Amino acid sequence: MRIVLGVSGGVAAYKSVLLLRLLREQGHRVRVVPTASALRFVGAPTWEALSGEPATDQVFEDVEHVPHVALGQGADLVVVAPATADLLSRAATGRADDLLTSTLLTARCPVVMAPAMHTEMWEHPATVANVATLRARGVHVIEPASGRLTGADTGPGRLPEPEEIARTALEIATRAADPVPATDPGQGEPSVQGQDLAGLHVVVSAGGTREPIDPVRFIGNRSSGRQGAALARAAQARGARVTLVAANLDGEVLGPDAGTASAPVPDIHVVPVETTAQLREAVRTAAATADVVVMAAAVADFRPVSAPGAKIKKVPGQGPAPIVLVENPDVLAELAHERLRPGQVVVGFAAETGDGAGSVLDHGREKARRKGADLLVVNAVGDGRGFGVDVNDVTIVDGSGEVVATSSGSKREVADAVWDAVVTRAAAAAR
Ligand code: CTP
Repeated sequence: MRIVLGVSGGVAAYKSVLLLRLLREQGHRVRVVPTASALRFVGAPTWEALSGEPATDQVFEDVEHVPHVALGQGADLVVVAPATADLLSRAATGRADDLLTSTLLTARCPVVMAPAMHTEMWEHPATVANVATLRARGVHVIEPASGRLTGADTGPGRLPEPEEIARTALEIATRAADPVPATDPGQGEPSVQGQDLAGLHVVVSAGGTREPIDPVRFIGNRSSGRQGAALARAAQARGARVTLVAANLDGEVLGPDAGTASAPVPDIHVVPVETTAQLREAVRTAAATADVVVMAAAVADFRPVSAPGAKIKKVPGQGPAPIVLVENPDVLAELAHERLRPGQVVVGFAAETGDGAGSVLDHGREKARRKGADLLVVNAVGDGRGFGVDVNDVTIVDGSGEVVATSSGSKREVADAVWDAVVTRAAAAAR
């Protein structure tokens, strides 16, 4: 593969020396394009010796080969690591004031950026907006790692390890070269949307929570987890890093043993949970680094106030034992109102039956306004619809209750419609 390795000016540039070696060891041709600031951290001789190619930030060198156009046009993959706040800003505004930014404008191959900067810079609304703009244009911006930064401070903004950047970038380039993933029996047609979720971390909750009454009984619901699992698989096929918080999924939904810690689904990080409290904890932990959270799980609204450690015995003639219920926190509403990460897209589901007070859509619209989510996927349940079947029929509304899309078909097709709406929403927010 012909790779352009862009390096912008941060201390983490030293890690890109290792990234360059890794890419070269795997047989790729790599041309390093540093910025002027990057050359203050690591000099051109290091890049040139390890790549075997010239390394300059200048557009006025080697002009007969028109490098500011040729490098981008000839690349199969462009990786920028580290991508500083300044580089993200220049790329987002389309500047072409050095060889790297010119290359970014001429590249038509996958572009992967690995940001590195201090937490304050990463979380600044200007950087958040620049990242959203780049992602909306199809640039794959990898989440920075959390940990020790240049000084004594710690937090999100650290450059991921070179092995991880290499693996992610090469996967993205390989998928782009072969965009239609293998057919996934039982999950409907594969996505053909390409890699529009690449570089994003998405969290999907699926299944139904169970609230223990005693060691052998629980209050549960009929959700199989099929729609949530289809959402996770579709996101993975579209390039996202996926965390699936799996609440008591039906055994066959992800595979015979999948959904358990001992048999995770390849490439999907599965966190098995049982109760609403466990689901809340797992979703919130993952949401701290997520770009999108989709609450597809059917969450119990109430739980028994306490569950004795021993089985509750029936005492003949005394009637039913009272089960005192308390209300569970609303995980979706909390996420929507707290916004654990700036720019995070929060999506809910609403399974409705319709009643004398309103239709399925009326209830969905009211719920969208009440919960504060960016998108709410409304579907009719009951009479054999919704639960445990392979098809679904949904209306997607925004936070004000406006219909933004409808979809009916396999749960995989509906999942892709949800991700389409998320991508459209993120792109609109970036404008
Ligand atoms: N949800 C949640 N936490 C709860 C209940 C629901 O996060 N305690 C989420 C679900 O995952 C789903 C959405 O909220 O994305 C709608 O769930 P639903 O059960 O339809 O909403 P309720 O608030 O329970 O409304 P209803 O009055 O219809 O029961």
